[in-house]
Amino acid sequence: MTRVLGIETSCDETAAAVVVRADDGAPAILSNVVLSQIEAHAAFGGVVPEIAARAHVEALDGVIEAALAEAGLALDDIDGIAATAGPGLIGGLIVGLTTAKAIAAAADKPLLPINHLEGHALTARLTDRLDFPYLLLLVSGGHTQLVHVAGLGRYERWASTIDDALGEAFDKTAKLLSLPYPGGPNVEKAALAGNPKRFTFPRPLKGEARPDFSFSGLKTAVRRAATELAPLSESDIADICASFQLAVTETLADRVALSLKRFRKAHPKPKRPALVVAGGVAANAAIRTALEALCEREGFRLVAPPLNLCGDNAAMIAWAGLERLEAGLPEDDALAFARPRWP
Ligand code: KG4
Ligand code: ZN
Repeated sequence: MTRVLGIETSCDETAAAVVVRADDGAPAILSNVVLSQIEAHAAFGGVVPEIAARAHVEALDGVIEAALAEAGLALDDIDGIAATAGPGLIGGLIVGLTTAKAIAAAADKPLLPINHLEGHALTARLTDRLDFPYLLLLVSGGHTQLVHVAGLGRYERWASTIDDALGEAFDKTAKLLSLPYPGGPNVEKAALAGNPKRFTFPRPLKGEARPDFSFSGLKTAVRRAATELAPLSESDIADICASFQLAVTETLADRVALSLKRFRKAHPKPKRPALVVAGGVAANAAIRTALEALCEREGFRLVAPPLNLCGDNAAMIAWAGLERLEAGLPEDDALAFARPRWP
């Protein structure tokens, strides 16, 4: 049995979790504590790095204690301490990683510095016991990419955004429409009452042979529509949100299809290979529905971790640490520093 404590502080959630793999191979989450700082940042319409770092300092000890208590474990029972080392906001990363280092040194446990994206990439192995290889679509506030997950530590980026991340496009659209932060869920909610055909927003890169994503043109089109119509009525806002979301889902499906075909060529054997969708935007129901339809058409199955594990959390960091610990991947002290950028 392996038990790992994970710590995540790369953005605006202070999180700690304990995951375990039982001797029969079954993974489980023993605790998963996430303290969101949304309220601290809402007044500013986005995450303020300085406020985030201070909030992590104040909250992290208590969050770790809560995660251990909920798991019913003491530090002595833990086999390794995992923490996000990057990419993310440098202040928060330093808080989490330094705390993990201190705990690892004091309790004499291995320290496991984890790439946040690897955490997202491996979550489906915790929730769905998925085998390698699979294709990962990571859509969050900071990232939009398709990753070929060939094995543990073997990741190849097949496509990424050339400008805004998808979550960023949702957040900026929300801001243009004066919808509250965080934008994604509010755009989705407003879109429910809207007419998706009222505006024809662009489908950036649709039909092109390169497999990448682009979303900044979409935001510009939203700005233009909003400016022309101002002042906006509630139904204008709903129509813009619905039209925006339709453009997003159509673009996404068109872009992702290219990498599904590439995966098919690389791995002709598996009958129904998996497309895993992760990151905060994966919470969006319209996007999930579009991806379901795409997977159906291309002979893939869509694997979407439960909503609380789609967004940022520490269970995914603990899990990536556990997989690395079990695989005996060499611990490298040179890796144990905070990196705002870490592809
Ligand atoms: O993965 P995540 O929690 O944090 C990182 O960015 O790493 O993702 C947050 C992003 C934000 O941009 C948020 O607006 C977006 O995910 N998001 C959504 C929805 N829920 C969260 N976007 C669209 N629809 C949603 N329901
Ligand atoms: Zn994330």
